[in-house]
Formats: sequence, structure tokens, C-alpha cells
Amino acid sequence: MEENAYQDHVLNNEGFERDGCDYTYNGLSLSSIISRIETPTYIYFLDILARKIQELRDFSETIKVSGTDIFYSVKANPAPQILTAILESGLNVEVSSMGELDHVLKTGFNPKRIILLGPGKDEGLIRRASEMHIRGIIAESFRELELIRKHYDGKMVVLVRLNMEDETSKALESMSGSESKFGIDVKNLEEIVQRSGFVPEGKFGFQYYLGSQVLDYRESLRLHEKMLSYMQKFRERIDYIDLGGGFGVPMSAGDLQFDFKLFSSGLNRILRDNGLNGKKIWFESGRFLVADCGLFVTRIVDIKTAGNGGTMLTTDGGMNNFFRIAFLGADHPIRVIGRDAAFTLKPATICGPLCTPIDCFGKNILIPDCVREGDTVMIFKAGAYGLSLSPILFLLQKVPGEYAVRNSKLCGSYHPPIGAETVLSFIYARDEGKLN
Ligand SMILES: Cc1ncc(COP(=O)(O)O)c(C=O)c1O
Repeated sequence: MEENAYQDHVLNNEGFERDGCDYTYNGLSLSSIISRIETPTYIYFLDILARKIQELRDFSETIKVSGTDIFYSVKANPAPQILTAILESGLNVEVSSMGELDHVLKTGFNPKRIILLGPGKDEGLIRRASEMHIRGIIAESFRELELIRKHYDGKMVVLVRLNMEDETSKALESMSGSESKFGIDVKNLEEIVQRSGFVPEGKFGFQYYLGSQVLDYRESLRLHEKMLSYMQKFRERIDYIDLGGGFGVPMSAGDLQFDFKLFSSGLNRILRDNGLNGKKIWFESGRFLVADCGLFVTRIVDIKTAGNGGTMLTTDGGMNNFFRIAFLGADHPIRVIGRDAAFTLKPATICGPLCTPIDCFGKNILIPDCVREGDTVMIFKAGAYGLSLSPILFLLQKVPGEYAVRNSKLCGSYHPPIGAETVLSFIYARDEGKLN
């Protein structure tokens, strides 16, 4: 097996280097960090997050409009370590539920830095957002638009989310199309504008978000061109355009790197051509900001030879901690740390401990042949939609820990893995008796 099949350069870009059987981050041995903490766990490298924030800011400053703002999508990772770093960076946040709204307020975000979107908002949530005068609210349906009108504070920016019935992005997760639950179809644009008459001048606009994990800037521009051209007719009425999220992260060697430079010049041209370059532009981003900074770490509890002679590793954490691979077949770089200086690589299947065959992190993963029970499996690029997307109650295994590394040191707030009994006692302690 070729050593270069490790394809480490997707990791090298972020500062991770292979060092024999170990890996380092900016010279710091990962096995030395991991030996100090229990597994399964996530580790967030906050210097990487800071770099991603800067990259997105640099890009947004190249968009020639009357102003740009970036909103971090909390659903990608609501860990306190991440949110505090976002708060301190000055970025804004996008929330999609009462839970996320409460969480960001508790973290210290001023309502002026919060926008609310997402399908199925109930009246209580819309009323609360309005009462606290958050920065903006996005209507996903005429029903929501009506509820916003009913509770409108006269101050919030009101955007209507648009969908294109005839267009689906080629992204891993598409967010539009003929059966989309998101937004209102562009064929209703006249009606949308007419029913948004209650929103004062300077406060109205559109949002759309067509697909996540987009790596090809040309595909992204194609969809923006189509959507922004629908808006041209209403450009006098529009003050804000929220272009949604979706910037992708290369996961394996053959993946493209999203080209922000070419994207920026294309987007500037499209905005200009449609007379929209005087507007305020918002970007949402989850994955791009946090995916690369997260490492999921789990220990090998069992090694055995399968019926076909292959090597099977079973780990202490599974899809209950990190669901993305089982759920989406996402292709994360997976590396195993061994303890010997001399080794060759061999293929193995790596699975979690749950009683379902879908609880599998990967087949044909190259591992050092010296690997033993207790050694560590690392899943890189695990900072986005990791724990927040995982079914933590399945099989009542541990909820993973969360730690942060800054300046090559474990630092700040953390929690170790939590036994299911703690989670269960919290849920079932609320048992209010018996219904007859
Ligand atoms: C409306 C909306 N905005 C932004 C995001 C974040 O997307 P991404 O993480 O791909 O940037 C999502 C993710 O589901 C979303 O639904």
C-alpha cells in the first residue's frame, strides 16, 4: 500500500503534519494532547477557526456593494468554545430555533448581531425575536410573513427566503427544488413584494440558500446569477440580499478548493449587471468556518480479523458521537496513531460500538500495522455538523467530550465525555408521574 495514499496534504494545509506514527499540529504532538484526555471527544483548534474567519472576512471585503456582513450558522457547531471565539471575533450569528436563540444570548451576543431563519417557526419564536429587536428575521412562508407582520417591531430587517422550483444545486445537501420545504418559490415574487408592504423602506430584502458543501465556484455563480436575475425587477424595493451559506471544504485529495477570488469577481459582475451593487449583502457560513478546526478522537477497544481476513477495529465512539459519515457518507480524512517507530500501512475497517452495521467510519482505511487496543483513531475536519448532528441517545453510550486548543495548548472551557446516566437523569428527572 502506497504511503502517499494517506494524502496528507488536505491536513497539511491546516497545520497538521505526520510525524512517524504520530501527527503534530504546529509542532505539538497530537498523541501528547490526547493522552491527557478521555475519549470519545472533540478537540477544536481555535487558531484554525481564527484563520477561517479572517479568510471569509477578506473575501467579503472584496464584494463591491454598500456593505457586507457575515453570520455564523450556529447549527454547525454550538459548542461554547466555538461560540465564544465567534463572539470575540466580532462576527454575527444566524440561529434557527428558540434553543439556539437562548444559547447565543447566554453566550453574550447582542440581539443586534443575531438573525433568525429556518422553516417551521412558531408564533412564540417570532414574537420573542421581535420583542428583543434582533437584527433580522427571514420568512420561509406566507404564514411566517403574516406572523412577522402581526408582531413587527418596525426595526428588524425582514427578508423573504426564495426557492427555485426548477433548480437543485449539485451540492451534497441541496436546499432547493420542486419539493423544497425552504422559502417561497420565485414564481410568487410579485405577491411576496406586495404582502411585504408593511416593512419600511431600508429594511426589506431576500434570502436564499441553495446548497451546502459547494466546492466549485462556477456552480455557485451559475445559481447566484439565476436567482439574482429574478430580483432585478424589484431592485428599487430591495435593501438587503442574504446569499446564504454553503461554502465547501475539501475533504480528500481530489476535491476542489473553493476559489474565493474568482467567485468574488463573478459575483461582483452579477450584482452589477442586475443593478444590485448598491445593496447590503449578507453571507451565512457554518461549515467553512468550523469544519477544519475540529478533530474527533476515539480509542480502539477491539481489533479482530474478519471472515474475509480483513482487519476490523472497533472504537469507543461511534455514529452516536459523529453521525456525518453514517448519515451522508461524508469522506473525512481518518488517521490512526500507533506507538512504534517502524511500521508499514495496511487497510482496515473502522467501526463504532453501536449495534447497527451503519455505525462504520470507513473501509479500507490505511492504518499503521503496529496499532494496538487503546490506540487512537482521529477523524479530521470534524468541526461542522459533528456533535450537533449526532443521535446521542442511541444505545446510551457516552456523549463525547469537547476541548479546545489555542496557541498549541489545551485551554479554556471544556467538558469530558459524559455518561448516559447523566443525560438520562436530566431527561427522566422531569417525569411528572402517570397519566391515566
Ligand atoms: C439557512 C441556512 N443558512 C446557512 C447554513 C449553513 O450552511 P453551511 O454550513 O453549508 O455554510 C444552513 C445549513 O443548513 C442553513 O440551513
